[in-house]
Amino acid sequence: MENNNNIYPIFDRMLSKNDKEELLNQRSVMIWFTGLSGSGKSTIAIALERELHKRGLLCRILDGDNIRSGINNNLGFTEADRIENIRRIAEVSKLFIDTGIITIAAFISPNNDIRDMAADIIGRDQFLDVYINTPLEECERRDVKGLYAKARKGEIDNFTGISAPFEEPIDPSLKLDTSKLTIEESVNKLLELILPKVKL
Ligand code: ADX
Repeated sequence: MENNNNIYPIFDRMLSKNDKEELLNQRSVMIWFTGLSGSGKSTIAIALERELHKRGLLCRILDGDNIRSGINNNLGFTEADRIENIRRIAEVSKLFIDTGIITIAAFISPNNDIRDMAADIIGRDQFLDVYINTPLEECERRDVKGLYAKARKGEIDNFTGISAPFEEPIDPSLKLDTSKLTIEESVNKLLELILPKVKL
């Protein structure tokens, strides 16, 4: 790690989160989806963003495959790389949150330590963790990207749910099982949770 002795942050002289929120006429909040690959995180994130946008609310989605093909394209799926993946995502999310933007993250983020780290970086008072708890059997049945089949054949190492662990969140703000709920039902539950928090 480089040393940071000669770094002088100027955060205290920049306009505040509050200034940005007033400009946008909204409060920012972090909506952190966690769940297995294929559980529906991205689909729900996209549907949620549309509903919030329709109501005049500015959002930003950060999504696994997008971030991993850009800013995090040097990271894989070892424990250490997943930690670094989520650390960077949390730092980027914080930039959006501090700009007053409702930020929606859709990453497996497979254990409590990783999710805690994200909440600590972003700030717990503005962090809503949403567990997309679609069962593994359903995610594997869907196998939208064909990755479960490859993982079962041993062609992908450390595949979450097959050859790498997924630890359930202890007390999430909301749980959504997309094998039981329609996308619309899931989004409505999210709106109930989020709208009161983002109104100025
Ligand atoms: S995380 O564990 O570090 O949070 P992230 O959400 O960024 O994971 O990326 C998960 C996506 O990467 C999956 O939806 C899948 O498309 C792809 N992927 C490729 N290899 C793996 C793997 N070994 N385990 C899990 N997902 C993988």
